[in-house]
Amino acid sequence: MTNPERRLVIVSNRLPIILQKNDGQWTVKPGSGGLVTALAPVLKNRGGLWIGWPGSPHDADLEVPLRQASVDIGYKLKPVMLSEEDIDKYYHGLSNEVIWPLFHDLQSRCNFDSEYWSSYQEVNKKFAAVILENTRKDDYIWVHDYHLMNVAQEMKSMGSDQKIGFFLHIPFPPPDIFVKLPWRYELIHALMEYDLLGFQTLRDRRNFVQCVRTFIKNVRTQGKGQIVTLQLRDKTIKVGNFPISIDYKYFAQQTATKEVADSAWFIHENLSDRQIILGIDRLDYTKGIIERLKAFEKALEKHAALLGAVSYIQIVVPSRVNIPEYQQLRIEIEQLVSRINGRFTKYGWVPIHYIFRSLDQYELLGYYRTAEIALITPLKDGMNLVAKEYCACSVEDNGVIILSEFAGASAQLHKGAIMVNPYDVNSVADAIYRAFEMSREERQARMGKLRQSIKKYDIFWWVDSFLDAAFTEKLYRFPILEEYDYSTQVPSTETNGNSGVHAE
Ligand code: UDP
Ligand code: G6P
Repeated sequence: MTNPERRLVIVSNRLPIILQKNDGQWTVKPGSGGLVTALAPVLKNRGGLWIGWPGSPHDADLEVPLRQASVDIGYKLKPVMLSEEDIDKYYHGLSNEVIWPLFHDLQSRCNFDSEYWSSYQEVNKKFAAVILENTRKDDYIWVHDYHLMNVAQEMKSMGSDQKIGFFLHIPFPPPDIFVKLPWRYELIHALMEYDLLGFQTLRDRRNFVQCVRTFIKNVRTQGKGQIVTLQLRDKTIKVGNFPISIDYKYFAQQTATKEVADSAWFIHENLSDRQIILGIDRLDYTKGIIERLKAFEKALEKHAALLGAVSYIQIVVPSRVNIPEYQQLRIEIEQLVSRINGRFTKYGWVPIHYIFRSLDQYELLGYYRTAEIALITPLKDGMNLVAKEYCACSVEDNGVIILSEFAGASAQLHKGAIMVNPYDVNSVADAIYRAFEMSREERQARMGKLRQSIKKYDIFWWVDSFLDAAFTEKLYRFPILEEYDYSTQVPSTETNGNSGVHAE
């Protein structure tokens, strides 16, 4: 069983909060993105330590504001300070211009600048040093995500023999994509220095194991099921798939509060007699926002019943705004929204409501609660927690979710969602119409299944599963073995205008 006595130390590129100084005063904002949403309740529940970059300049004196923030959130925070150059080459560079696009199968977007790799190594070394200075022998060290794949190796080269776990929140690519990485040998060997490696889906895990076998000779793989072991010389590494989740109870309970009900009412009151289609994404080309807008335009062209009867609310949360690709994406989204609105708006109806900012909690839950349709169509995504949050907040029993086959969440949610290929604009357009027409009974039946599954496999199940795998040989907590199965999907047909909408 998981040992609750051991202190849990989470290590990620970012701390769960962002500290900013405005007019001499520190302000604390929650960080955005799925990693923070998922892990914050874990440490709140167990206590422990979180090590990461506070998102502020290197010379800032953060001791007092971090101590205050620790008291407020209920666990300790330890900053790793990064220089401007680190941020430029390790974070913007290797992490977000190389690993991020490559691991999302978008290799043409990679910028393989040779200076990035040495900066990545240096910053991983900095993290390793901060971990060693601030942890005890009996702590469990759990490193997260693609920014920190070298940390175990660096810790070992500093003399540490502690057991270390790693979880990758993004997909792991197949060998024919991974092979493009100029530092493929170094990276795969660095990952093999962890004791337990966790991936989101069975497919990611399989891709990783195939890469290991492609790049390292004499590795023995043993076992089947959720966890396999890799044997390299005298070292045994456990590798498993652990689909990350949310604090279901928190989302469901908060959504039922009066504040959220009021927020939901207010949103819909302004769009009465219309179904709301909701998209919520960080600004990111992996989220398929451009393709989704085109699909919505196609839906309006093909299905006249939608005109004046749906309002599509697209919320884009600012992210990585210093990277040119992200700046360009914002321009493209805004041009497309404006073109589609220019084309279809009529008196009293604007088809797309576009919001570019982060939302506070009440607003976010209000949108989840009130939207009849969630349109979640990433081109590739590790999991996509927005999908799970939307289901947890569908307390009106009237929501339906259109989900990309390429989100990690598809393995778990395909039985209740309308599944689509996000590149197939026609099929997504028809899925929108199908969701619009879906009866309340069918929505309830589908959403009921989804809510049950997310409730059962919540974030606390996830953390226990990972820690059980880390501490025990007995692997009994792993019922989700399934993988999204393309062969069960009905191929595209052109009949009844329902081309390519998949039946489940
Ligand atoms: N989110 C946020 N600020 C907002 C809107 C959403 O932090 O204004 C959260 C949302 O609740 C979700 C996360 O951002 O938990 C997005 O996670 P997801 O896994 O869908 O994608 P990621 O951003 O991690 O790629
Ligand atoms: C994804 C990544 C996280 C990252 C988040 C926000 O969820 O998996 O590691 O923190 O996006 O991106 P950012 O670059 O702002 O940290």
